[in-house]
Amino acid sequence: MEIIIQNTPQDAADIAASIIAKLLNEKPNAVLGLATGSTPLPLYKRLVELNLDWSQVITFNLDEYIGLPRDHSQSYHTFMWENLFRHTNIHPSNVYIPDGNTADIPKFCADYEALIIEKGGIDIQVLGIGTDGHIGFNEPTSSLASRTRIKTLTQQTIRDNARFFGTEEEIPHHVITMGIGTIMEARQNILLAFGENKAQAIAEAVEGPIQAINPATVLQMHPNAKFFLDIKSASRLKRKEYYNWVYSNKPEWQKF
Ligand code: GLP
Repeated sequence: MEIIIQNTPQDAADIAASIIAKLLNEKPNAVLGLATGSTPLPLYKRLVELNLDWSQVITFNLDEYIGLPRDHSQSYHTFMWENLFRHTNIHPSNVYIPDGNTADIPKFCADYEALIIEKGGIDIQVLGIGTDGHIGFNEPTSSLASRTRIKTLTQQTIRDNARFFGTEEEIPHHVITMGIGTIMEARQNILLAFGENKAQAIAEAVEGPIQAINPATVLQMHPNAKFFLDIKSASRLKRKEYYNWVYSNKPEWQKF
């Protein structure tokens, strides 16, 4: 794991964006796994500023609420088009986001998995993290080998996301999410976390034991996982001086 701690969320997101930009320049038909929530916003802002060529890029989103109309202001379809896709030249047919209104959820999930493989697998998966350690919508106790499927949100996640909806009552209780096994098959995982309210989940994910109670801990087993943090989300890491030391000692050829 690589832990990159920056003064501000935007500083951290800019470095993450440079890694994605490099991939898109080297591999124009790259497959990206994308996340929603407030955390990736500075990353998407920077990617838009970089004015990259998205004409051949393929994207798979991590998750979507079940039962929310596709054009609802809080659907992840709306989020992605508003915050990233409409500012790029991505081809709409290359955008894959779980369909929260599918009539056959198990079939949809199996097809989503097959499609990821058919498109060559995910080159870079962007992740946020829930205050309870969830990645995608894989809530605590999710199988660390899980695949795309339906999940029930925890009450904590519903409370956390109420700020987007206005009231807790409006938030669907069910979602479709890529599984942890699916995420672990991405060739690279880039997790972003900002703010004091993520500090505990990050401390566990980086320095705690691997356990389904904090799904992000599984990234300790991933061969290419990078955590981009601000000072606040990194505040409870015991070895942050070491992570900063590693980053400042990066060999020239390894720099982002
Ligand atoms: C959401 C998303 C996750 C996201 C997390 C944190 O519910 N499903 O992909 O990482 O919760 O959200 P935020 O970035 O707004 O804190």
